[in-house]
Amino acid sequence: MFVRRVAVVGAGYVGLTSAACLASLGHHVICADIDEKKVEQLRGAQVSIFEPGLPELVQEGLAAGRLEFVVGVRNAVRDAEVVFLCVPTPMGEGGAADLKAVEAAVAEMKDLLAPGTVVVNKSTVPVGTAARVLELLERDDVFVASNPEFLREGSAVRDFMHPDRIVVGSDAQNAAERVSALYARLGAPTVLMDAASAELVKYSANCFLAMKLSYVNAMAELCERLGADIANVTEGMGFDQRIGQSFLQPGPGWGGSCLPKDTHALLQIAEAAGHDFELLTATINTNEKQSRLIIRKIAGAVGGDLSGKKLGLLGLAFKAGTNDLRDSPALKIAKMLKAEGAELVAYDPAITQAVEGVTDDVTVVDDVQQAAKDANALVVLTEWPQFRSLDWAALAGTMTGQVVVDTRNLLDVDVLTRAGLTSHGVGR
Ligand code: UGA
Repeated sequence: MFVRRVAVVGAGYVGLTSAACLASLGHHVICADIDEKKVEQLRGAQVSIFEPGLPELVQEGLAAGRLEFVVGVRNAVRDAEVVFLCVPTPMGEGGAADLKAVEAAVAEMKDLLAPGTVVVNKSTVPVGTAARVLELLERDDVFVASNPEFLREGSAVRDFMHPDRIVVGSDAQNAAERVSALYARLGAPTVLMDAASAELVKYSANCFLAMKLSYVNAMAELCERLGADIANVTEGMGFDQRIGQSFLQPGPGWGGSCLPKDTHALLQIAEAAGHDFELLTATINTNEKQSRLIIRKIAGAVGGDLSGKKLGLLGLAFKAGTNDLRDSPALKIAKMLKAEGAELVAYDPAITQAVEGVTDDVTVVDDVQQAAKDANALVVLTEWPQFRSLDWAALAGTMTGQVVVDTRNLLDVDVLTRAGLTSHGVGR
């Protein structure tokens, strides 16, 4: 079997998943992070992110001696044949990606790398970063490649182990092949290309997904005006294989740590290149508009004025299956509701008041009953499947108003009606 010594810099979502999965493919992986506490916990197989299958893989890798965690880049890269950069690239000034963490990691490793090492950008970085990293390395005996990661939170391990495709780009001969060989056991379609194209693939894919969702949300708005049902429209569209059934669910707007950041970053990249990417601007604006439409929908459902209304929010995470609140549409909507004077009590199965990112806008409670008690309306903001099977009649009995606003079209309308509740969905 083809086994390599791999270093992964950054034990965040992408880094930790990549490290654990690469170890499970048989490679020897050292994963570095600057957070000492995190490294200590990971050595004990304690994974703080909510990701199915990840704790087990970490445990397995540690037990097999194929996975190690260290503090600091320098302790990870010395013997590595391939070094993955998986550090955060948050939204910086004007929407452009902030590359400070990438630059710091490169500065720390540059004199320690063995000749022939391939340094791989896995973080989503602007076009030209591979060339920039090569410059910063100041070495002519190491190589740089770009290998974007397409995993989704909540199904990261599955997405890594069963990818739709592997994309690797490099301008150095054989570097892309050496990186793609690490994934050979996955048997996935592999596309090799130049570094700039690989860097663009990730932005292009995420922005296309955002555009697809903005399109669906805009169609949903039109459906409401025309008396059509978006579920029927998307089902009818989705059978066209060129469109596909997935990523067509309307909602409170798209969010999370990737789509908002990447749409703004690509817009910046386009602007800097003198390209007026109007379609992308419209995609972002449509998403902003979606939150305003949802606020008006909720206001309408409680009589027009939100001031002094008690609302029970169901879900705070940016999507089901995660406890991640970064750029969560639910939080954005909570902030807007609060600004209009509503009183908010929220329940999310994965979130407590102590979770990083929870704001003073909401009081987080431990069960749905507390969120429903005396509420003028319940508002579903995250599509947790367990909300479907709640005892809606019992909840209705404790509410002041008999209204549910389902921004994810998650609940069964007949069940709500039988429970005596009026429901408002999106696009129907
Ligand atoms: C996204 C991409 O889907 C991944 O391919 C990519 O690797 C990742 O970003 C990244 O760049 O790292 P993720 O942010 O985990 O993954 O979340 P998604 O599942 O894409 O959801 C994004 C947002 O769209 C969420 O707010 C979700 O609720 C919303 N959404 C998704 C909808 O409103 N409707 C849908 O049909 C699907």
